[in-house]
This record gives sequence, C-alpha cells and structure tokens, in this order.
Amino acid sequence: MTQSVLVSVAWPYANGPRHIGHVAGFGVPSDVFARYQRMIGSEVLMISGTDEHGTPLLVQADKEGVTVKELADRYNRQIVEDLAGLGLSYDLFTRTTTRNHYAVVQELFTGLYENGYMIRETTMGAVSPSTGRTLPDRYIEGTCPICGADGARGDQCDNCGNQLDPADLINPVSKVNGETPKFVETEHFLLDLPSLAGALGEWLRGREDWRPNVLKFSLNLLEDLRPRAMTRDIDWGVPIPVDGWADNNAKKLYVWFDAVIGYLSASIEWAWRSGNPDAWKQWWQDPEAAGFYFMGKDNITFHSQIWPAELIGYAGKGSKGGELHKYGEINLPTEVVSSEFLTMSGSKFSSSKGVVIYVKDFLAEFGPDPLRYFIAVAGPENTDTDFTWDEFVRRVNNELANGWGNLVNRTVSMAHKNFGAVPAPAELTDSDLRILDLAATTFDIVGDNLAQSKFKNGITAAMHVVGEANAYIAEQEPWKLAKDESQRERLATVLWTALQVVSDCNVLLTPYLPHIAQRVHETLGRDGVWAAKPEIHEVADDMPVELVGVGLPEEGQTYPVITGNYSAQQAVWKRIDVVPGTPLAKPAPLIQKLDPELAETGPEWAPVQ
Ligand code: MF3
Ligand code: ZN
Repeated sequence: MTQSVLVSVAWPYANGPRHIGHVAGFGVPSDVFARYQRMIGSEVLMISGTDEHGTPLLVQADKEGVTVKELADRYNRQIVEDLAGLGLSYDLFTRTTTRNHYAVVQELFTGLYENGYMIRETTMGAVSPSTGRTLPDRYIEGTCPICGADGARGDQCDNCGNQLDPADLINPVSKVNGETPKFVETEHFLLDLPSLAGALGEWLRGREDWRPNVLKFSLNLLEDLRPRAMTRDIDWGVPIPVDGWADNNAKKLYVWFDAVIGYLSASIEWAWRSGNPDAWKQWWQDPEAAGFYFMGKDNITFHSQIWPAELIGYAGKGSKGGELHKYGEINLPTEVVSSEFLTMSGSKFSSSKGVVIYVKDFLAEFGPDPLRYFIAVAGPENTDTDFTWDEFVRRVNNELANGWGNLVNRTVSMAHKNFGAVPAPAELTDSDLRILDLAATTFDIVGDNLAQSKFKNGITAAMHVVGEANAYIAEQEPWKLAKDESQRERLATVLWTALQVVSDCNVLLTPYLPHIAQRVHETLGRDGVWAAKPEIHEVADDMPVELVGVGLPEEGQTYPVITGNYSAQQAVWKRIDVVPGTPLAKPAPLIQKLDPELAETGPEWAPVQ
C-alpha cells in the first residue's frame, strides 16, 4: 500500500523578502524530505503559503507607509519567487488572505466554540495612553515572567519560547514610543487549553521518535497550560464567526489561530483546484496517513500545542466532549520537525541591522543548489549554526565542485572521448565490485536518514560514496589505460563502473540537489524530466465558500501560487542501470567554482563586516 505523506511547511510572514535563515529552518529541509518521499513512492501533499495577518504585517506596513493589503500582495509575490527559485516543490503554496482560508478558519472556530472550547472572557488589553489606540502584542516589550529574559515581546519570549500575554510582562513598554501601556478591560475568546491537556498529553507522550530537543520542549509546555486568547483587538484578520462579533471590525481572530489552520485550508484549496474537491481527505482523515511539520524552533509551541489543541477540540475529544463537525476527525501531526537558528557571522539575522542575506540575491549569484547543499550539510539541524562566506566557499569548492562536479565531469568526459557512449564492461575486479557495492548499500543508509529527517547524516553518507568513487578513479588511472591499446577492455570496465556509481550518487543526491541532478541525468545521456521544478501559476480567488463578517477578501482577485507536476518526474530511489551504447556528449562543467576571495570579502550585496 502506498503511504500518504502530508508535508506541512511553516508559513512565512508576508512582511518582507525571505533571508537564508528563514529557508534554512523550514524551506530546504521540508523539500529534501518531500522529494525523497516521492522517490520512494509515497503520495506526497506538500503545502504552505504566506502568513498575512497579525502585527508583523501591521508593523511593516506602517514603516513602509502602505496599506496592509498592499504590503501582503507585494511580499506574497516576492516570497513565491524566492521559494520557487530555490526549487521547493510545493503541491500548493498559497496565502492566508483567500476566501477559502477564511471559510475553513471560521468552520474550525465554530466547531471549537460549539464544542465548548472557546471561552468568552474579559481580559486586560494594552492601550497607548497618548493615542488611545490598542497596542498589538508585538509592540510591547518587557521582561519575561517565565524565564526573566529582557526583550520578551507581548506575544512570545524568544529566549524561552513561551507564549505570553502582554499583561504578564514585567515592566512593559511600547516599542512605538517607549511609553508604559495602559491596560484596559476587553472581551476575548480564549482557547480552553486546560480541558484539552489530557488528550494533548496522551498524543504527545506517544511521539517517541521526535528530535529530542523538540519533544522535550513540547512536553514542558504541558506543565503550564492556561486558556489563551484566540482573538485580538485589531482590524486586520479573519472575522470572529459569532453573532455580535463578526461585524465588529475592531476584533479579529489571532494570527496564530488562523495560520496553523492554513495546512488544512491549503489542502482543501489544492483538492478543489485539482478537480477532486474531496482529495484532501486522503491526507487528513485516513488514520494511516502521516503528517510531518517543518519549521524553525520559535514555531514549536504553535505546532505541538495550539494546532493539535484546535484539532482535538474541533473533534470533540477534550474533557468537555463535543460533536464532530464538517471535516470530521482530522489527523494530528505525526511529527513536528523543528530546526534551530541559522546565524550570520555570529549574529541573529536582522534586516534592520543589515545583517542579512536575501534568498533573491543569493539565487541570482549562485543558483539554488549551492545554498541547498550548504543548508543540508552545515545547517542548523540540531543546534544553532553560523553561516560564514568562508565556510560556504570552502564547501562549494572542495565538496561540490572538486568532489561531485569533478567526478561527473571526468567520468563522462573520458567515456565520451574514448567511446562516444557508455562502454560495455568486461569482467569486474574486486575493486570494481567494492565501489559498486558501496553505492548500492548506501541507498538504505541515506534513505533511513532521510525518512527520519536526519539530513546531515544523509548527505554525508552520499558524499562519502562520491569521495570513494574519486579515490577509485585515482587508483584505477583510466587516463593511463587509455594510452594502452591492450587495456581497452579494462578501460571500458572502469569507466562503466564509474558511470554506474555516478548514476547512483545522482539518485542519492537528488532530494538535496534537484537542479544539478537534472543536469547529471542529461549528462548521462538520458531524456525527460528526472527532478521536476515547481511552477508559478496565477490563479483567481474563486472557490465557492460561505463567509460571515466584515473585512473579507474580495472575490476573484488573482494571486500567484506555487505548484508542480511532480508525478511526471522520473526520479525513483533505486539503482538505475547505465546502459552500454547510450551516446554521451562532451559534458559542460557542472558546478561553478567560487572565487576564493569571496571567502574574505563576501559579495557586494552582503559584504563581510
Ligand atoms: N508566520 C510564522 C513565522 O514566520 C509561521 C507560521 S507557521 C503556521 O514565524 F503554520 F502557523 F502558519
Ligand atoms: Zn522567557
């Protein structure tokens, strides 16, 4: 039976272009995983989109002097280009300001509300004493009441990762003008986490194979479960589908309440666009389907607590019971796969401080696979990790260009020059068999690692074969064999062996380096699409949905989505025999070496400081 695998990728805020820290956390890992899953025959649905509500958007719109809507439209488009350019193979990358998303969010809220998990309460909201305007959580800073760190925001402490309420902060100040906010009474709906805690704990305690950091952090969160406000005093967001609230434009659902629901709404949108509106159920309602969620560590709380709590309450499985609603019982995450942070030369990425490397600039200069390689082999998989130009140059030149590029080039060049085609092997020696065997057995090693999101181990094992293959060639010295007519059979055997190992390494590297893999496929004299690229399509927001409230997305607006025809690609996770007689052309250089000076200076658009 084929396994259905949902690959849920964190939704980037549409408040600016993406930098390489963002894509190191959620982008590249999720794509490597999805591409591997497709290669072993799983039915993959990979979804995401831009996260367009919440104060991060309001703050930036204020800064740029544009409306939030203009800001969201601009950066949604930019981010779509960034992510498609990296080759991230989304089945659908959409956005949270679609009518469908609003409808799915309102349905989830209504289910939770009717089941009794949304409690209405008067809470203390922050207001600016000088302007009288409500201060969004992110505009307030203070000392974290949980870990004591300074600079905690009203919504979350980056130091300990806990969600906060602005009223909990010690010495709160407004980031806008430094004044101390006034707290006034305001009514909100709170998600009743304590009544979902039992079911949450039961689910989490069954998750033994998560990354230890992530599991430990998530289990800790269970210790302090309080009801959390899922609505905000804000005029940008999904209207609250309750009589007397929906038409109040000053109150909306909290951005995190709606964003995580994007995984479901994007799946529903994908199904509708693919012509089979029920197709999403294969990944959400079948208990055998698996769901993997990829993100940076500041998102763990929302994926291992808020999102499953929403699903449990919606299905009526908390201590208050309840009924099933429209979407039935939908699957909880199988695994929350979270990365740590990528820093840059020791500091946190920060657009405002100029400590930043934008994906767009990176792609324009180096193309996607060098970045994908760096993130896979040296990214923040289990611990915070630093990006330096020095290490980037070293890895690209020594490992990608001198290791992999050189192996492909010299093997194919010699076969082309001496035979014009893949030669036929004669009898294999022990050395030939040894390298062929190593390549063959590495499929399982890399595969097991990829299945467990151990991307570093996976690529290291694949590159080990590349290294051994280069050593095999150095030892066999085919250039010497080529000079001796009596060694023609041996030459053919060595080159055939090397070509087979090149082909194997290319399979092993395909999830990591899909663009290079396509070129190697062609270099080996093969046709057609080996590794598919994502495509950007312009679509209209025209799904038929029912919505309530004010401030809804207009019908019929067009927006870009990322999608792709991945089932048409040839990539599979197994040895593909190289066939003697296949014509070979003179190969073009595969990987551009970088100027060593770059290691010291960095590029003009991100100079080493
Ligand atoms: N926009 C959030 C961030 O950049 C991530 C949202 S993930 C989602 O931190 F699932 F909630 F959408
Ligand atoms: Zn803290």
